[in-house]
Amino acid sequence: MTSTRIFISGFAVLAVFAAWSVTPTLAKSAPTTRGGVYSAEQAQQGKALYDGKCAMCHGSALKGNGPFPPLAGDAFLTKWNGKTLADLDHKIQATMPTTEPGTLTPDDTARLVAYILSTNTFPAGEELPKDAEALKAIRIENTPPQ
Ligand code: HEC
Repeated sequence: MTSTRIFISGFAVLAVFAAWSVTPTLAKSAPTTRGGVYSAEQAQQGKALYDGKCAMCHGSALKGNGPFPPLAGDAFLTKWNGKTLADLDHKIQATMPTTEPGTLTPDDTARLVAYILSTNTFPAGEELPKDAEALKAIRIENTPPQ
């Protein structure tokens, strides 16, 4: 009887320990845009860049206009859901602004991505990395937290 109880409580301790040690690993291996992946400062700098280089086409509230797609809201998030920040970063760096593609620095591109995330109401947190490998690991989630 006693030994059974010791066995069961020992198992419970092991199970709790296993859950505790596995959870942070899982959270780390699959970060998403909900996890605070850009800094508030980057988003603020991104806004200045956006207003100067992007707003004339995509609109000052990122809502799009005619042939210019929105960069915030349901349509944008549905389209980009499941893709990674490397995809978004590359799209911007390689093709935007359409009038002078390839002119944005990696820092400025990361700032623009940060501003887009912030306007889509994803939370701020750590600074967004600018290298493609790190950005590839961050998945875009279609539903921002309420
Ligand atoms: C002269 C107009 C113009 C300017 C300026 C411009 N864009 Fe665009 N952008 C477009 C058009 C047109 C498209 C749709 C065609 C395409 O995807 O290439 C687009 C598409 C995009 C997309 C993909 C949207 C989607 O849903 O697939 C992103 C992201 C984007 N632009 C970001 C930016 C950023 C950031 C800037 C500022 C650095 C910028 N654009 C400046 C015209 C513009």
